[in-house]
Amino acid sequence: MKTVWMAFVISYLLGSLSFSTIIGKYVYGIDIRRYGSGNAGATNTLRVLGAKPAAAVFLLDMLKGMLAVGVGWMLSGGDEAVAVFSGVFAVIGHNWPLFFRFRGGKGIATTIGVVAVVALPPAVVAGAVALLAIAVTRYVSLGSLLFTGLLPVFVLLWYDSPSLLAGTVVIAVLAYWRHRQNIANLLQGRERKLGERVKVG
Ligand code: G3P
Repeated sequence: MKTVWMAFVISYLLGSLSFSTIIGKYVYGIDIRRYGSGNAGATNTLRVLGAKPAAAVFLLDMLKGMLAVGVGWMLSGGDEAVAVFSGVFAVIGHNWPLFFRFRGGKGIATTIGVVAVVALPPAVVAGAVALLAIAVTRYVSLGSLLFTGLLPVFVLLWYDSPSLLAGTVVIAVLAYWRHRQNIANLLQGRERKLGERVKVG
């Protein structure tokens, strides 16, 4: 039991490494959370800082999700539920990071890292739907909502795993909660579109 909690704490701390805030602050000297949507994530990094830092943020935020699953898997001796929920704790850390006054992101890149390890086929199908929606509408948030909302559905169809289903339902609930402003913006037709840049200064 102790090792399970250790895995969750390590995963939360890993998730708390908010790479958009780190790169924004220490490479560009700006707090990404003060610009654009105010979100500490790859999409807002693209808006505020451009494609290269956004790609770095996306990859690093995704990798920490993968790493958290690996930590859970190793510390539990291969228990799927611990591995999945370690991933969930990384997403919680990303959304409410200990190191950055609990002001983080919306957890999508980290979720992608987690599900790429624990549920690759559902992740690929949900990801394809999300990418298509983003390509057509230019709303990244719509893609994120479709991706996280479809994950538990495809997991249910693909596997017989209560822990995987529970983990992806929690991830979806977290994502919808964190996107509540985006949902309001989408409904009111004032959501930011992919490719819109924000001036800093
Ligand atoms: O992954 C985050 C994305 O879905 C929305 O980000 O900055 O447009 O609120 P943002």
